[in-house]
Amino acid sequence: MTSTDNRSTDRLRDHVAEQLRRSRERSTALADAVDEHDLTRQHSPLMSPLVWDYAHIGNQEELWLVRDVGGREPVRDDIDNIYDAFQHSRASRPGLPLLTPAEARGYVREVRDKVLDVLDTTPLEGDRLVADGFAFGMIVQHEQQHAETMLATHQLRVGAPVLHAPAPPPATAPPRAKEVLVPGGEFTMGTSAEPWALDNERPAFRTHVDAFFIETAPVTNGEYLAFVDAGGYDDPRWWTDEGWAHRQAARLVAPQFWERGPEGWQRTRFGVVEPVALDEPVVHVCFHEAKAYAAWAGKRLPTEAEWEKAARHDPDGDRSRRYPWGDNDPGPEHANLGQRHLRPAPVGAYPAGESALGVAQLLGDVWEWCDSDFVPYPGFASFPYKEYSEVFFRGDYKMLRGGSFGTDASAVRATFRNWDHPVRRQIFSGLRLARDAAPHETR
Ligand code: AVJ
Ligand code: FE
Repeated sequence: MTSTDNRSTDRLRDHVAEQLRRSRERSTALADAVDEHDLTRQHSPLMSPLVWDYAHIGNQEELWLVRDVGGREPVRDDIDNIYDAFQHSRASRPGLPLLTPAEARGYVREVRDKVLDVLDTTPLEGDRLVADGFAFGMIVQHEQQHAETMLATHQLRVGAPVLHAPAPPPATAPPRAKEVLVPGGEFTMGTSAEPWALDNERPAFRTHVDAFFIETAPVTNGEYLAFVDAGGYDDPRWWTDEGWAHRQAARLVAPQFWERGPEGWQRTRFGVVEPVALDEPVVHVCFHEAKAYAAWAGKRLPTEAEWEKAARHDPDGDRSRRYPWGDNDPGPEHANLGQRHLRPAPVGAYPAGESALGVAQLLGDVWEWCDSDFVPYPGFASFPYKEYSEVFFRGDYKMLRGGSFGTDASAVRATFRNWDHPVRRQIFSGLRLARDAAPHETR
């Protein structure tokens, strides 16, 4: 090995250690923000107790990095079952013999100490599991995904506010156009090059989409409010049969956390009641609501391929970018990510994050529902375990793209694929509209 190789391995180790530190700082802050009772109780049957997520983060890290990569003895071999997401539904987790908050804190610390030692002694090359630090990157992303889940649990928690963050940047550059044309033709979807991309984003392949229009910003509260005020929730014309049945059964009348106040609609956000901000992307809508809104607006949701082409396609050289703005990692100027702010930013807040085609706020702010099912890409191979993606393919899921204000930059890319049941809305989910381009509109 040359000294250059040594230096780049050192740099990669430093990067991994820093990402591990950041993810732990965040999940620990989310746990430490509440008392013992709020850590262990059920805030919603849709969510785990916060202390389950916290210990599960440590258990997943132990399974992959201490035992598998490190080949070390288990830290705790008696709790794997409790923290196996497939063994117990979220609703049933409060009844498990969970580690207490103090035990969970001690456990994740002990696992992490071993992992830092494994990191120092593992060559980050050769074997595919460790090449480019993949297994460590997978665990960083896993912790950040659960931190976002913990943030969604915080949103469901009732009580005085405990989370605080500065307001997002104001709108400085309103979009130049309401919608832009994405040219028809092939583009490269997915990735074979991104070192920490997860199995369902792989491999890169060429796929065709017809020309279509996509809006340059996510749908705002103001726009969505017009649908609510027009009686959109009471008119089955806008809803699919399945969507209408759900709207009836769940008695949906507005996005989750909205309620009618003395001076109009207000929402509760991390314990703070405030008027619905009209220029912010709407959040906490399910797939059925997103689809009904789109129908009412005379448009539709993009497919996953359309979303990715709008985000990545650079007509100059027919390249697909890593991120909408280019190949550089996300910075605070590009996108509202990482819980830096506790809400979506107003439309026009991130001109530096625009895609080559002029589409803004694709990453961060709100996850965007796409009208696609969760299916593997051509050439998909499960790696390193079937339970991350494969067991969910062709299930009752719809795709979400782009991440939210609660998604860390390390856990989202323009290729990143998220999925959830079409009825879920406790996640930070919104939408963006698209429409077909008529033949005379395609250039
Ligand atoms: C990719 C966000 C759907 O949270 O259910 C966490 C990620 N997988 N632990 C989820 C995940 C295992 C997953 N999502
Ligand atoms: Fe998990």
